[in-house]
Amino acid sequence: RVVAVIMVGGPTKGTRFRPLSLNVPKPLFPLAGQPMVHHPISACRRIPNLAQIYLIGFYEEREFALYVSSISNELRIPVRYLREDKPHGSAGGLYSFRDYIMEDGPSHIVLLNCDVCSSFPLPDMLEAHKKYGGMGTLLVNKVSAESANQFGELVADPETNELLHYTEKPETFVSDLINCGVYIFTPNIFSAIEDVLKQKKDRANLRRVSSFEALQSATKALPADFVRLDQDILSPLAGKKELYTYQTLDFWEQIKTPGMSLRCSGLYLSQFRRTSPHLLASGDGKRTATIVGDVYIHPSAKVHPTSKIGPNVSISANARVGAGARLINCIILDDVEIMGEGDHNAKLGITILGEAVDVEDEVVVVNSIVLPNKTLNVSVQEEIIL
Ligand code: GDD
Repeated sequence: RVVAVIMVGGPTKGTRFRPLSLNVPKPLFPLAGQPMVHHPISACRRIPNLAQIYLIGFYEEREFALYVSSISNELRIPVRYLREDKPHGSAGGLYSFRDYIMEDGPSHIVLLNCDVCSSFPLPDMLEAHKKYGGMGTLLVNKVSAESANQFGELVADPETNELLHYTEKPETFVSDLINCGVYIFTPNIFSAIEDVLKQKKDRANLRRVSSFEALQSATKALPADFVRLDQDILSPLAGKKELYTYQTLDFWEQIKTPGMSLRCSGLYLSQFRRTSPHLLASGDGKRTATIVGDVYIHPSAKVHPTSKIGPNVSISANARVGAGARLINCIILDDVEIMGEGDHNAKLGITILGEAVDVEDEVVVVNSIVLPNKTLNVSVQEEIIL
């Protein structure tokens, strides 16, 4: 059996995403009309013998309660949110819930970062992992040499795919092959984390001998129970025939900024063309808006038939789009109202509107991010409206 774990982080993480995640935790921000975390969850469903999906984070329990209960019912797979009392790091967080994760006696654990956008080729990756016979397999991707330093850079054996060398966000270039934040592990990962925890404790005890060093470590070091998957586990285990790589040839992006969420929304919308065409607005029928390219419209949204929507537009629940409105490249959150009555037009291009924002007649919004609960009665371009 297989158990999937998605690391969702918490409110102190994801600050670069801030203007968008004021009302909603980042993992629930809509991409292609579905919460960000919904995309890896539905990818997990394709794994044979999947017993459970856990989301581990340090957001308040109530922020996820509604979502996990509705998604469990929809997918008919138990999805549970497990809350850390404080951040333990990506490996420490996993370790702190090992008893839950091991409850079903899984042979494999699929571990995913929630802030990546991918087609998540999990069944193929699992097959490859079984053939390699190691403790873990990482999904990897080739990126441009200039952007590689935002990620874990790695070297893999071209024949065996073994992970030979791993450096997290190095200052000098190592490789354009990077870690995608998607892993398959055997339960041995818990012993590997335990070893690191033991070493950390031993070192902390040794340091107590020297008061000067103790002072230094108290100001600089991370807590003794904080373990990072990348630096503390992947780096030391590289080249030991424990870790292997599986390269994705499909789309992959990291979602750290509001601008990236728009791009990723578009990538998921185009994936829907292959996987869930019923979720895309078709625009046929006389009483619907003109649809251009890939568009998602929530069933409860009201979109005027004279408006023109797309490409890459996602419209969330209870939003209202008025007559003659023109929307391109945008994410419209819950309860947003975009007016445009009579001969007037409201136009949006490459824009993200926060919850319950009103855009009035003849207002043009281009390349902007608008925080929740604002009314726009003048046009804006290249602005963040706080
Ligand atoms: N529950 C929990 N607790 N989740 C955490 C914690 C924690 O203490 N710390 C991080 N996370 C979650 C984040 O929400 C994110 O989904 C994932 O773990 C990784 O976050 P970071 O450790 O901050 O790393 P990163 O996102 O900067 O980079 C990682 O992902 C890249 C791919 O997107 C690294 O693994 C890179 O090597 C990799 O390229």
